[in-house]
Amino acid sequence: MVNSEVKNFLDIRDFSSTELENMLDLGLKMKTAMDDTEYLKGLSFGLLFSQASTRTRISFELAIRQLGGCSDYYNMADLQLSNQESIADTAAVLGRYLDGLVVRQYDMNKYGQARDVLLEIAENSNIPVINALDDQGHPCQAMADMLTLKEKFGEEFNKRKVVLTWAYAERRKSPGVPHSLMSLAGLLGMNFTIAYPDGFELEQEYIDFAKNKAKESGGTLEFVNELEAACEGADAIYAKSWKALDATNEQDSELRNAIRTDWTVDKRHFDIANKNAYFMNCMPLIRGQQATAEVVDSPRSIILDQAENRIHAQKGILAKIMGRSRDDR
Ligand code: CP
Repeated sequence: MVNSEVKNFLDIRDFSSTELENMLDLGLKMKTAMDDTEYLKGLSFGLLFSQASTRTRISFELAIRQLGGCSDYYNMADLQLSNQESIADTAAVLGRYLDGLVVRQYDMNKYGQARDVLLEIAENSNIPVINALDDQGHPCQAMADMLTLKEKFGEEFNKRKVVLTWAYAERRKSPGVPHSLMSLAGLLGMNFTIAYPDGFELEQEYIDFAKNKAKESGGTLEFVNELEAACEGADAIYAKSWKALDATNEQDSELRNAIRTDWTVDKRHFDIANKNAYFMNCMPLIRGQQATAEVVDSPRSIILDQAENRIHAQKGILAKIMGRSRDDR
């Protein structure tokens, strides 16, 4: 059992809309006010990663340093985990050294396994653990994306039509972004559409959560199986690939290779979207996969804003989770 006295940031669904809005507002305030040096003063963090990362690793290192804390990066393969030390012992030891732990680990071979490991780390470390991407969620990315939408569209951001679409990529990726973003969209009352081809359905638990929250918050959540139909009247089109959750790797490759042309975002989709619609992606991306170079490099692309906002969103999260925001002092 995860200790409920410890504030983790493992899944968007663990938070209320007010708590998440407060984190976003604090992140946005810190982005503009630059008055943020004391929130993590004297605190030590570990970044425990088993997978490559550019944005998540660097933005967390910078956010922690800019808030007055310090951090070290640990590649799981370099720890005694590689000599069969248990994840529970590793987490318990790290919990004695550190004040907080940022964890990225996923393995796309068996859906749900990485989440179990994340929970085991949170249970045994007894310090705040932040999910930096597992095989079910990418809550920090979703928060940065929402902060970007708020920044671009202003207070009425939740009235704009945002489309998140499955898009072809050669590499099999976690469904973390769609799960976390649709949960957040439901909580914040967004006008949110998810497009995906047959075979790439998301997990029902996340769909049910998002639908229920959208009902309560007055948001709209639509699921469609046709990309062009989804893009009509869109104010933002977010391309994101994910693995077919119930398929073997071979079945997944077969499925995705057959639909590559129909499910790559290109200029045609922006021709039917609203004028000035934004293109979004969490990166990394390869031009020609998920979206064409013409779209990725167009003036409507806000992918670098999303990447930059990882720092600011995570500052809001860290300050609230570590109980050191000004409201808590
Ligand atoms: N979007 C994202 O999580 O990027 P990295 O894999 O580079 O951290």
